[in-house]
Amino acid sequence: MPNSKNRMKIGVVSDLHADASKANKELIPFLISAIEDAEIDILVLAGDITANLSEFFDILDQFNKAKLQCRKLFVPGNHDIWVKKNGRITSTQKCGIISEICRENGFHPLIDSPYIEKNIGFCGTIGWYDYSFASTDYNITMEQYEKKQYKGKIWNDKRYANWENSDKVVAKSFEDKLSAHIASIVDIVDKIIVVSHHVPFRQCLHYKGDLDYDYFLAYMGSEGIGEVCLKQPLITHILFGHLHETVDKKINDLRLICSPVGYLHEYQQDELQTYAEQCLTSICLDE
Ligand SMILES: [Fe+2]
Ligand SMILES: [Fe+2]
Repeated sequence: MPNSKNRMKIGVVSDLHADASKANKELIPFLISAIEDAEIDILVLAGDITANLSEFFDILDQFNKAKLQCRKLFVPGNHDIWVKKNGRITSTQKCGIISEICRENGFHPLIDSPYIEKNIGFCGTIGWYDYSFASTDYNITMEQYEKKQYKGKIWNDKRYANWENSDKVVAKSFEDKLSAHIASIVDIVDKIIVVSHHVPFRQCLHYKGDLDYDYFLAYMGSEGIGEVCLKQPLITHILFGHLHETVDKKINDLRLICSPVGYLHEYQQDELQTYAEQCLTSICLDE
C-alpha cells in the first residue's frame, strides 16, 4: 500500500463505456496509468464499462495485467447488465458472470459482499430506478414512465435490460440488499463507503424545465438508495456513476461523488492522457 498508515486514498471512476467510441476504448490504458500515478490504495469502478462480455473481460484483464498496487472494487452499471432480447441469459444471470470475471481479474464484486480494509467498509449496489426521480412539473403517469420512451426517444434499458421483475421491484430489491450488506458490517468497521451505479439523490440531478430532457431523469436512480444511506451515520461517502456529469457535493454529512468518463465522440488522441487524469477523482480518508 503506497500511502501512510493512517491515510487511505480512494480513487473512483465510472462510465468508461468502452463500446461507445474509438476514443473511449483508447482511453483505458491512459486511465490505468493515471490510476498508477495517483498512488491510491483502493480503486472503485462504479459501472458502465461495456455491454459486450468479451470486451468486459478484456478491460478487466488490462487492469489486472497492469499489476496496480491497489485493491480494486467493482459494481456493474445498467450497460454492463444489458443482454440480447430473446437471448440465452437474463440480466440477473449476467450479474453472476460479471462477478466471476471480476474475481478472475482481481476485482472484488461489491454486489455480492462488502469489502473491508482495516476499519473501513465498502458496500455496493448497481441500484436501479423506480421513477421517484420523475420531475414534479409534469403530469406523466407511472404507466408512461414504464414505457421508457418519449417522443420517439427510447431509454435503452427497455431494449436490453432483462430483469425478472418490474423496475420498482428491482430498485427495492437492490436497496434492501444494500441495507443488508451495511447491517452486516456496522459492528466491525468505523466508516462505510457506499458505491452505487445509479444516482442516490434527486439533488444530484439538474431538471431543466424541458420535458424532452427531464423525462429521462426518471431513469437516473431512486430516492431509496439515498434513504438507506442517510439512516446509517457510519456512511461518510457515496460514490456513484450513471450520470455523465461530475458531481462532488454534500447532503447532510454525506459526501457524494460522481466521476464519470462518459461518451468521448470528439476527443483527439493527444487529449486522452489529460482527460484520463481528469476522470479519476481521489479522496483521502483518515483511518
Ligand atoms: Fe453511463
Ligand atoms: Fe449507467
